[in-house]
Amino acid sequence: MGRWRWRVPRPLGPLLALVLMGIVNSCDGGLTSSFVRKVEKTIDMPLDSDVFRVPPGYNAPQQVHITQGDQDGTAMIISWVTEDEPGSSKVLYGTDEDKLDLSAEGKYTRYKFYNYTSGYIHHCEIKNLKHDTKYYYAVGIGHTVRKFWFTTPPEVGPDVPYTFGLIGDLGQSYDSNITLTHYESNPRGQAVLFVGDLSYADNYPFHDNVRWDTWGRFVERSAAYQPWIWTAGNHEIDYVPDIGETVPFKPYRHRYHVPYKSSGSIAPFWYSVKMGSAHVIVLASYSAYGKYSPQYKWLEAEFPKVDRSKTPWLIVLMHAPWYNSYNYHYMEGESMRVIYESWFVKYKVDVVFAGHVHAYERSYRVSNIAYNIVNGKCEPVPDESAPVYITIGDAGNLEGLATNMTEPQPSYSAFRESSFGHAIFDIKNRTHAYYTWHRNQDGNAVAADSMWFYNRYWKAAEEISDM
Ligand SMILES: *[C@@H]1O[C@H](CO)[C@@H](O)[C@H](O)[C@H]1NC(C)=O
Ligand SMILES: *[C@@H]1O[C@H](CO)[C@@H](O)[C@H](O)[C@H]1NC(C)=O
Ligand SMILES: *[C@@H]1O[C@H](CO)[C@@H](O)[C@H](O)[C@H]1NC(C)=O
Ligand SMILES: *[C@@H]1O[C@H](CO)[C@@H](O)[C@H](O)[C@H]1NC(C)=O
Ligand SMILES: [Fe+2]
Repeated sequence: MGRWRWRVPRPLGPLLALVLMGIVNSCDGGLTSSFVRKVEKTIDMPLDSDVFRVPPGYNAPQQVHITQGDQDGTAMIISWVTEDEPGSSKVLYGTDEDKLDLSAEGKYTRYKFYNYTSGYIHHCEIKNLKHDTKYYYAVGIGHTVRKFWFTTPPEVGPDVPYTFGLIGDLGQSYDSNITLTHYESNPRGQAVLFVGDLSYADNYPFHDNVRWDTWGRFVERSAAYQPWIWTAGNHEIDYVPDIGETVPFKPYRHRYHVPYKSSGSIAPFWYSVKMGSAHVIVLASYSAYGKYSPQYKWLEAEFPKVDRSKTPWLIVLMHAPWYNSYNYHYMEGESMRVIYESWFVKYKVDVVFAGHVHAYERSYRVSNIAYNIVNGKCEPVPDESAPVYITIGDAGNLEGLATNMTEPQPSYSAFRESSFGHAIFDIKNRTHAYYTWHRNQDGNAVAADSMWFYNRYWKAAEEISDM
């Protein structure tokens, strides 16, 4: 939580001081980046864009995507859509590209939304996979067959390196496409932790669900090859009583299956998976989370189950951020923070990733859990047991960037910048992870923000000697 101090040679002093005023606006808070993004309108790619092309062939599977199918990474859920007829829900798979000798049978579903009828949405879980192994798989059996591949995560263990990509609030604008391209050309990501708000179909009249299909085709180029771990955002709710659509999350629940049962959850909006040396908890900002709610009871039971000797890294995903200093969605995460934050400190969560705000921000390790109604202690304070909070809802959807920030920068905010981008959380071993945030406007590998994460449970030697 160091204060920023700048030593400037005399003659340059006044000039530099002016420049720096634009960068550092308060000695309380951290850095507000001076990078000013060229302001352009964020517009969706038109329906006839290359990225939305329907694969050729009769009843060809489209919108192929995968996610981890169990807690430990020996199962994968394969999903796709066929448009002409149901066709087969079978997946053929194997480790030899030319000999897919294993098979599993899935199921399909479909739904209506106002005057839209979905295609046949297939989900097939393939189980008993070997760890750290490349599998090839084929879907569309009997009609047009399409082949893909993925690599299973290594067996869970304390020093297993694993690299996550972080993407949030993606949408389907030209900027979304640039973000995804940057993520792909930053080739270390083995799985995506997606912090909610997928297609933004609900910004179209009658929530035109055709935009759920185009989104599925757009992300296939990554989501068919590595697991995307899904978090539900407000753009997944699709609750529109005026047109008779009163079942929340209908398109999302039909299209994006997650392995919630394997972590004892009763709904696909909160659950957990283990990957490499990380235990990833996904929370639901838009499902009940108050005391006695199913999510509360689940989380209360989940935290003690996290075994830091097997999965040292404890990561939480949610959509609405708790620590956000933009004038957008300000304090929307507050009620959940009040209920859960003390657990995050008690169980030493390493990092919390959230979306919702269309900009980038990273906090210091702070907590705000001392308040008890009468003691007046209601300010965030530095806390070595607290997580770092990262807002990464800046992948580039049509709503555009959040640019208006609260001033001065609050003391909990370490770095903030209004730009599109993605991040990489690169776990090296039980003590170290290297984190980088990549803005869209730079060359692919440039990091605009970075930090070494030292594990909260296994203290790194560097940190111990710092204290
Ligand atoms: C659904 O209804 C809207 C508004 O009446 C119309 O513009 C749209 O073309 C309809 N779509 C279908 C698939 O019928
Ligand atoms: C999206 O990005 C890909 C990869 O860079 C590119 O080939 C494609 O033309 C882009 N499409 C649009 C509509 O921008
Ligand atoms: C930024 O947000 C504040 C608080 O909502 C508002 O008062 C102010 O007018 C906004 N500034 C701009 C430039 O929109
Ligand atoms: C963990 O990784 C960091 C960064 O790569 C390295 O400096 C450190 O020596 C590693 N620790 C062990 C015990 O290997
Ligand atoms: Fe959102």
